[in-house]
Amino acid sequence: FYVGSAAAGGGHHLEQDYDDPFTTDEAYREVLAEQFSSLSAENQMKWEFIHPEQGEYDFGPADAIVDFAEENGQVVRGHTLLWHSQNPEWLEEGDFTPEELREILREHIETVVGRYAGRIQQWDVANEIVDDDAEIRTEENIWIRELGIEIVSDAFRWAHEADPEAELFLNDYSVEGINAKSDVYYGLAQDMLDDGVPLHGFGVQGHLSTQYGYPGDLQQNLQRFADLGLKTAITEIDVRIVMPEDGQPDQGAFEQQAAYYRMSLEACLAVEGCDSFTLWGFVDRYSWVPVFFPEEGAATVMEDDYSPRPAFTALLQAL
Ligand code: XIL
Repeated sequence: FYVGSAAAGGGHHLEQDYDDPFTTDEAYREVLAEQFSSLSAENQMKWEFIHPEQGEYDFGPADAIVDFAEENGQVVRGHTLLWHSQNPEWLEEGDFTPEELREILREHIETVVGRYAGRIQQWDVANEIVDDDAEIRTEENIWIRELGIEIVSDAFRWAHEADPEAELFLNDYSVEGINAKSDVYYGLAQDMLDDGVPLHGFGVQGHLSTQYGYPGDLQQNLQRFADLGLKTAITEIDVRIVMPEDGQPDQGAFEQQAAYYRMSLEACLAVEGCDSFTLWGFVDRYSWVPVFFPEEGAATVMEDDYSPRPAFTALLQAL
């Protein structure tokens, strides 16, 4: 069973105002090496960072994560190959024909997946292709807009050719429970499997917030994907707390958060083929939450001095 964390930095949005902890914060690196058995690239393998200009790749930060993982006996989750967000301008603003775009995606997948072949346990091939209304992102997602939903299956095929060992995942948020959005994935996964597409897993991000409640049917949802023969994973968990005026959540809030983390881990542990549970970072200082959810915070399992919150202890107990 793998317990992972996102490896922060190496390319992040500018509004996140910090030095790259992965290269500058020795204490951070120690915790990352010691507490986790899997690493995910928080940003470093996204298009805008790894493929910043047409025909130009920047592999440095992604290489550093894969090397670090190997030195520390950790596996790696690759993230991500086909997404509507964090794409470089040259791609989004470029004037490409559908045929050219198809070739651009194929080349990218072959290059990136091929570079790390044999060193990545799981790839989030397609990320967030369904929107909050449970519709396929036919406008926002450049690939689906220009090439149709079939391109998703092609992306899986190309990734599988480039690294036959990697387990290839669909991945999204708000698909923890059984709901309209996870239903769309359930149907899509069946179609892809029927077509012989090398789809191996369904990733549930797990960006939870105590104000929206715990998805009580997480285990049943994972189970129905497992019953299709797929692996499942919790890929990006954090549990946000609505921040009080003084910026210091009370003990009750941390206990509730701990329960969400623990129940999510227990749900995964109870389902065969769910053997990867990844935190989207472990300290608030480097977490995306305060930047993206201004009213919320304290979403990680450690204080900024790396002392454990109740959630950290709860996870250890559940393992
Ligand atoms: C986030 C990162 O944590 C931020 O640093 C970045 O600025 C934006 O993306 N779903 C995903 C992740 O699949 O890639 C996102 O990561 C969080 C939501």
